[in-house]
Amino acid sequence: MSETNVEENVEEQKTEHPDIEQEEKENKYKFIEDLPGVGPATSKKLRTLGYHTVESLAMATTRELEPVGVGEKKAFAIIGAARSVIGVNFIRADELLKKSQDVLRLTTGSKAIDKMIAGGLETQTITEFYGEYGSGKSQVCHQLCVNVQLPIEQGGLEGAALYVDTENTFRLERIVQMAKHIGLEPEEVVKKIIYAEAYTSDHQMFLLENADEIIKENNIKLIIVDSLTSHFRSEYVGREMLAPRQQRLNKHMHKLIALARAFNTVAVVTNQVMAKPDVFFGNALHPIGGNIVGHTSNTRIFLRRASRGPVRIARVVSSPYLPEAEEIFKVTENGIEDVSEEEKLSKKHG
Ligand SMILES: Nc1ncnc2c1ncn2[C@@H]1O[C@H](COP(=O)(O)OP(=O)(O)OP(=O)(O)O)[C@@H](O)[C@H]1O
Ligand SMILES: [Mg+2]
Repeated sequence: MSETNVEENVEEQKTEHPDIEQEEKENKYKFIEDLPGVGPATSKKLRTLGYHTVESLAMATTRELEPVGVGEKKAFAIIGAARSVIGVNFIRADELLKKSQDVLRLTTGSKAIDKMIAGGLETQTITEFYGEYGSGKSQVCHQLCVNVQLPIEQGGLEGAALYVDTENTFRLERIVQMAKHIGLEPEEVVKKIIYAEAYTSDHQMFLLENADEIIKENNIKLIIVDSLTSHFRSEYVGREMLAPRQQRLNKHMHKLIALARAFNTVAVVTNQVMAKPDVFFGNALHPIGGNIVGHTSNTRIFLRRASRGPVRIARVVSSPYLPEAEEIFKVTENGIEDVSEEEKLSKKHG
């Protein structure tokens, strides 16, 4: 075979397998230092800014790279090269359909809730659970940390969880109970939960800004921030602090969505509510952070207690594609569970 023939063969292979070209890029730009224009000094600065991986750089903006001091044009080239690896570009609408198949879903543990949200929590978007004290937000978060480790066929993502805890409410005992209940080995499950307590809102932001490498190395498929707003709320007090608070929250949420997209993970935040006088309904409960949080969360779910006992009500409040709906579930020693038909009936008649 002549040399030209070999080359033609390679060309042929490429058109038959477009993935090969993609794979080559992935191999070529494995580390940020492999990207064109990233020398030792630049890579050091990028790392101090929290860009440890090609994936997180792909989601950066040239403005975010300003502190690196490489100039806009070069920053653009670096981001462009990083993007070529994960393939974030214009795509045809029929391919969009394929891309949306990349979106994976994680079970909540309740079939009723899963059904209400079209099969479970989506990767690449943020789901916000908000509600009053004791409504079950942290319980749901704990359950998701266990469920994410399940095989795909059982509604899991065969991955690990990253838990950013701002109120020190994460409890290993709960994880152990929930893991046992669904037949997972507790000692294995706890190994796949990476935990970080955030002491201040700045620390909370810092943790996410530097999470990319941990996410990649540990195959993290679920990122939790519980609670998103508690530090912000207690640190930024008063009217004049509202604008800076919202600005910081906005930045934080954007970091989270960028990570969720770059690594195809589920992202969950929890949020408390405050009573606000409402013209029509007296005191209505509103999530903290208002529209900033609302516009970045793709799906907002309001949790509240039923009159008494373990039953909770989950309501889809806003979603780009789901109708408003309500479903019940319960929080028990086993974790998040469905309310059985018998229980529903006995409630009605009792
Ligand atoms: N081991 C358990 N067995 C049964 N129910 C439990 C157990 N642990 C917690 N719960 C239930 O979960 C509730 C606490 O819910 P959770 O901690 O998720 O509230 P939250 O919405 O996160 O509240 P906050 O706003 O204070 O963070 C308890 O009041 C209890 O009803
Ligand atoms: Mg909580």
